[in-house]
Amino acid sequence: MRDIGFIGLGIMGRPMAERLLDAGYALTVFNRTPQKAEPLRARGAQWAHSPEEVAHRSALILTMVSDSAALEEIARGPEGILRGIRPNTIHVDMSTVSPETTERLERAYREREAAFLHAPVLGNWRQAAEGKLLIFVGGDPQAYQRCEPVLRVLGHRIWYFERIAQATHMKLIANSFIAGMILTLAQAFVFGRRVGISPDRLLEILDASALNAPMYQSKGRTMRERNFRPNFYTRHMLKDVDLALEAARRANVPLPVLSVIRELFVTAVARGFGEEDYSAVLKVLEEMAGVTPQEQGA
Ligand SMILES: NC(=O)c1ccc[n+]([C@@H]2O[C@H](COP(=O)([O-])OP(=O)(O)OC[C@H]3O[C@@H](n4cnc5c(N)ncnc54)[C@H](OP(=O)(O)O)[C@@H]3O)[C@@H](O)[C@H]2O)c1
Repeated sequence: MRDIGFIGLGIMGRPMAERLLDAGYALTVFNRTPQKAEPLRARGAQWAHSPEEVAHRSALILTMVSDSAALEEIARGPEGILRGIRPNTIHVDMSTVSPETTERLERAYREREAAFLHAPVLGNWRQAAEGKLLIFVGGDPQAYQRCEPVLRVLGHRIWYFERIAQATHMKLIANSFIAGMILTLAQAFVFGRRVGISPDRLLEILDASALNAPMYQSKGRTMRERNFRPNFYTRHMLKDVDLALEAARRANVPLPVLSVIRELFVTAVARGFGEEDYSAVLKVLEEMAGVTPQEQGA
């Protein structure tokens, strides 16, 4: 499987596609906004005019798009993958979407004698560029075996789940940690500022303690510098919190902490921070407390 189709060249998709090119794979790419494909075309990737055309040309298709609606569109839309698919083709979606979507698509592909796997990822664009994503993959085991070497170019750890929705759910559980951790850190920054404890000191003490997590240090640094350039959009964080809450509701599981977290991300999007990094939720907590970034504290 040296010829791969790749759809969705956003923050994550582009470095993933570049890594596959670097590893010697021949890529056929499509992106809704064609200009974003230019850097890849300059490096030898072939352009396709639609997901359907990608499917005509590739036996393995990877996708990395925003949400369930985008995935449905590229799979089942009027120029979607399913229109051009041939038997034995494998579509591996790596986006964060709903369990209903992945289960539905798995059935639709099976009816066409093709396979749909879900392989959502943990990690940001840097880890994508370095092949250090963590991948949760679910679906047909034979299809997984066939595409595993390609997934290993993108991720250095892979966990396989037999039922597709287990992989989908695992990603939603992982992202509920991310949403909670960023708010725990943000509220500590705001509280600390008010009482005269600097972010630097807080991060240093966290680093020396059992409370630390690598994410606290990396996000702590960018929040301290007030760098909210998007690595992961606030609107995508809200999407994932909503997906987790909906999936938990269907499973009859209350997620009381995540429900509170949701309100803060809704506020962040309502305040206009949707296109910034999700760590911009710090500004919501600052506004709630009336704390300014300059405040030196008591
Ligand atoms: N950023 C991260 O750190 C990170 C980490 C792990 C997982 N994820 C997940 O990975 C996925 C992609 O995230 P990202 O950060 O790369 O987002 P992004 O930069 O917004 O990229 C989204 C991609 O989806 C495409 N798209 C959106 N709606 C579409 C539609 N209706 N039809 C066709 N294509 C459509 C976009 O096309 P256009 O270029 O035309 O807009 C773009 O290529 C999301 O599910 C996200 O939750 C992100």
